[in-house]
Amino acid sequence: MNKEKKATLIIKNIGQLITMSGPAPRIGEQMSDLGLIENGGIAVAGEEILYVGKSEKIEGQAELAEGCRVIDAKGMVVTPGLIDPHTHPVFSKTREKEFEMRTQGKTYMEIAESGGGIRSSVRDLRETEYVTLKEKTKERLDRFLSYGVTTLEAKSGYGLSLESEIKQLKIINELNETHILDLIPTFLGAHEVPDEYRSDRETYIDIIINEMIPAVVKDNLAEFCDIFTEDGVFTIEESRKIMQAAKDAGLKLKFHADELKSTGGGELAAELGSISADHLVYISNDGIKAMAKSGTVAVLLPGTTFSLSGKQYAPARKMIDEGVIVALSTDCNPGSSYSESLPIIISLAALQMKLTAAEAITAVTVNAAAAVDRVGKIGQLCEGMQADITVWNMADYRELPYHYGVNLVSQVIKKGKLAFGK
Ligand code: NIG
Ligand code: FE
Repeated sequence: MNKEKKATLIIKNIGQLITMSGPAPRIGEQMSDLGLIENGGIAVAGEEILYVGKSEKIEGQAELAEGCRVIDAKGMVVTPGLIDPHTHPVFSKTREKEFEMRTQGKTYMEIAESGGGIRSSVRDLRETEYVTLKEKTKERLDRFLSYGVTTLEAKSGYGLSLESEIKQLKIINELNETHILDLIPTFLGAHEVPDEYRSDRETYIDIIINEMIPAVVKDNLAEFCDIFTEDGVFTIEESRKIMQAAKDAGLKLKFHADELKSTGGGELAAELGSISADHLVYISNDGIKAMAKSGTVAVLLPGTTFSLSGKQYAPARKMIDEGVIVALSTDCNPGSSYSESLPIIISLAALQMKLTAAEAITAVTVNAAAAVDRVGKIGQLCEGMQADITVWNMADYRELPYHYGVNLVSQVIKKGKLAFGK
C-alpha cells in the first residue's frame, strides 16, 4: 500500500468482497472467478482505491485522513460499481401505448413500420425543449445510480438530424460534467431513417457520413459511433459504409446487430474491429467465431427480449464456450426495454440465458468495462483503480439474481464519495 496517501473512506466487515482482480476482461471459465475475499475491507484515498484485503488489516495499515468516513458493511456483499454499457436515456415521452399494443399481439417491427417506434420518439424529441429533455434524462440517471450503477454509456439516436443529434449529445456531455455518474457518449445517427428521408435514404446516409460524423468529431461530442444494423433499418452494406467512415474519423465502434434476424452484423462488427456488438439474439456460428477472434465484446440485452416477449434469448452459453467476452446491459430505452435496473437484467441472464451469478456479475463489471474501453480503470476493485463501489444488502452474492424485482442496493460510492445511501 502507498503509505504517503491517507484514507478518506474505509469500508470494513464486508462479508463477501468481490474484487474482480485478475484477468481483464474475462472469457470462458475465468468468468466464474470473482476475486472474492471473505471478511474483506477497502481503504480509499480521494478518488482511488488505496488498499483491498482482509477487514482486520485495514485500519492498522492506512493512516486516516481527518474526517475519514467509515462504513461498517456488517457482513454485506460489496462489488465494483456496476457499468451499464448500452443505454438510450435521452428521450422525452414514454411509449406505454406501444407496449400495450405488443402485449395484445402487434410486433415491434409492425409498430415501427406503421410510423411508431423510434420515429415517434424522434418526432417528440425534436419538439422538446433542451432543458426539459435534460431534466428527464437526469431523473433516469438518478434511478440508474440507485440500482448500483456508477458508469453508463449513453447514446443519441432520437434526433436523426444534425441539430437534434447534437442536442442529445450535448445533454449527455453536460450531464457527464454535472451528475455524479460517468457517462460515455455514443453517436447513433444511424438508429433509423427519419420520416423526411424515407424515400431518399441515400441522402440521409450521405448526411450522416459527410455532415454529422465530422461535426460530432470536431466538437468531441462522442467517443463511440453505433448503428442499428437490421433488416428494414440499415443493411450490411450501408452499415459497412457508415461505420468505416466513423472509424476513419477516429470514433470507436459499437453495433446493434442480429437483434431480430440474422443479418451478419456480428461478423461485420468483428471485421471492422468494433469494441462491441450488442443484442446478438440471432448471431450465426460464424459470427460467434469471428467475435471471439477479434475480441469484440458481446453486450447481451435480455431485458429487450423479455420486454418484446421474445421466445429466443441470445446464445450466451455458446458464446462463453467459444471464448467471446460477454457483458450485460439494460438497453434502457422508451421502446424495447424501459428499465434502469441492471439487477433485473442479472436475474433474466440467470433464468433465460443460464448464466451463473458469478458470470453475470463479471458481465456487468470487468467485462462491461471492456465494452466501453475502460479496462484497468473501472470494473475491478484493485489498488490504484477508481473507487466506484456498490454495497449490497445481502450476505451471499448469489442472492442478486435470485431475489428479483426489489432494490438491494445499500450504498453507492462514486470516485470515493458516497453517492447513494447513508
Ligand atoms: O436497442 N434496436 C434498436 N434500438 C433500440 C430500441 C429503440 C426504440 O425502440 O426506441 C434497442 O432495442
Ligand atoms: Fe439499444
